[in-house]
Amino acid sequence: MSEKEFYIDTIENLPALYNSDQDMRERFASVFMEFLQLQHLYQSAIEVVKTHLSIIDSEFSVKFQRNPIHNIESRLKSPESIIGKLQKKGLPLTPEAAQKNLLDMAGIRVTCCYISDIYQVVDLLSRRDDYVVLKQKDYIKNPKPSGYRSYHLILNVPVYLSSQKKYAPVEVQIRTMAMDFWASLEHQLRYKQSAALTPEISEELRECAERIAETDLQMQRLFMEISDLD
Ligand code: GTP
Ligand code: MG
Repeated sequence: MSEKEFYIDTIENLPALYNSDQDMRERFASVFMEFLQLQHLYQSAIEVVKTHLSIIDSEFSVKFQRNPIHNIESRLKSPESIIGKLQKKGLPLTPEAAQKNLLDMAGIRVTCCYISDIYQVVDLLSRRDDYVVLKQKDYIKNPKPSGYRSYHLILNVPVYLSSQKKYAPVEVQIRTMAMDFWASLEHQLRYKQSAALTPEISEELRECAERIAETDLQMQRLFMEISDLD
């Protein structure tokens, strides 16, 4: 029986599990417990980073009377999509494999007002000495072929549990409101269609991303001009 079959079978036969052999029950209980602990750890790491971000934001509003962060959203990857991704990568369907190989189980999306705010947030997050930067990708300086723009940081975040300190990776996507507008609609359009987007539609979406990026730069320039007048 493959690992996937084992878990599906076990879930479908939960009532029968109470009467099944001791070994099987223990195996399932231990995987289930590990998975709950993992979810708790990752959710806690999200809370740590979100609290830190909201402290930065409120500090800015006290010091400079403005908020660099417009919005913060977060999500934990669902068990179905964790299983789907492990399968796609040909990895065993275990909590350890997920922890080792999936760095985007905990995700935070920070929407900023201006491009300069993005770099300020990146700088503040990566300078914090108790976070470890595992990966960073600047899709603003180097947009994806689709036209996608955002700054991605994967941080290993310490969580102080009752008896020990554990680390969990958190993917932070930082973008302007304009970049978020494009990414959200492009995502919707892409998933609306079961087949891949045609080259013509992809090209138009890329053009939209370019125009939006120009507007972002224009707004940034206006912001700087007005700030200089103060
Ligand atoms: P994943 O397996 O998707 O996590 O890819 P990866 O590990 O190579 O990371 P990558 O930096 O390419 O992108 C991770 C995330 O960025 C995705 O899950 C999306 O949220 C977002 N993203 C990347 N490319 C696009 C894109 O072309 N359009 C949109 N809307 N979002 C994108
Ligand atoms: Mg991802």
